[in-house]
Amino acid sequence: MATRCKTAILISGSGTNLQSFIDRVTTGELALDLSVVFSNKPDAHGLVRAKQTGIPTACIEHGNFPDRESFDRAVIEELDRWSPDLLVLAGFMRILGPAFVNYYEGRILNIHPALLPKYPGLNTHQRVLDAGDEWHGSTVHFVTEELDGGPRILQGRMRVDPSESADELQCRVQAVEHQIYPEAAGLVGSGRAQFREGKTWFDGAETDEPVIQTFDTAGVRA
Ligand code: GRF
Repeated sequence: MATRCKTAILISGSGTNLQSFIDRVTTGELALDLSVVFSNKPDAHGLVRAKQTGIPTACIEHGNFPDRESFDRAVIEELDRWSPDLLVLAGFMRILGPAFVNYYEGRILNIHPALLPKYPGLNTHQRVLDAGDEWHGSTVHFVTEELDGGPRILQGRMRVDPSESADELQCRVQAVEHQIYPEAAGLVGSGRAQFREGKTWFDGAETDEPVIQTFDTAGVRA
């Protein structure tokens, strides 16, 4: 992987995770080259964040394509103009098909707001509250064909307050995401964390367990 890892960030919405990358690259804490921010929605606020920082942007609306495969092919064509080493899905609300995932195998990261393998899919915060779980958090993982099922890299966890709402919980989880996602991407960008044969490898050793970081109720690393 190049010394300065060329990174494409894919978004669909507000882009608070994107902002956490921008902030750390700006301060020099994160050694990634943010080459392009791609959105499937022209009104995604994350595009504004990118433009304000001078990062190139690209947008292809999925609604203009007859099926997932043709949209995915168009996205590959666009992204390849930037020769990305790494793709960071940051609130990108489209499922990417097998051809896309295999094309960029081992180079796509996602963040999912749950302690995977618990709660893949949507509405994770309410599901955690309904189940009365003690812990909740977010997981950065490599993307494979299995939705929210790829090998995990890093998890941030915190205790659930059973009296809080799903919105409050989401807000706290996002504060954790903004810390763990750039860190995990930095591990991959530097080559310390790698995807090999369907598993995560850390510093040259295969592992089934992600790095787990614990945060206090205010979102500060414990
Ligand atoms: C994040 O909470 C992430 O877990 C999920 O989508 C959300 C994106 O939020 N995949 P933002 O657009 O980064 O603010």
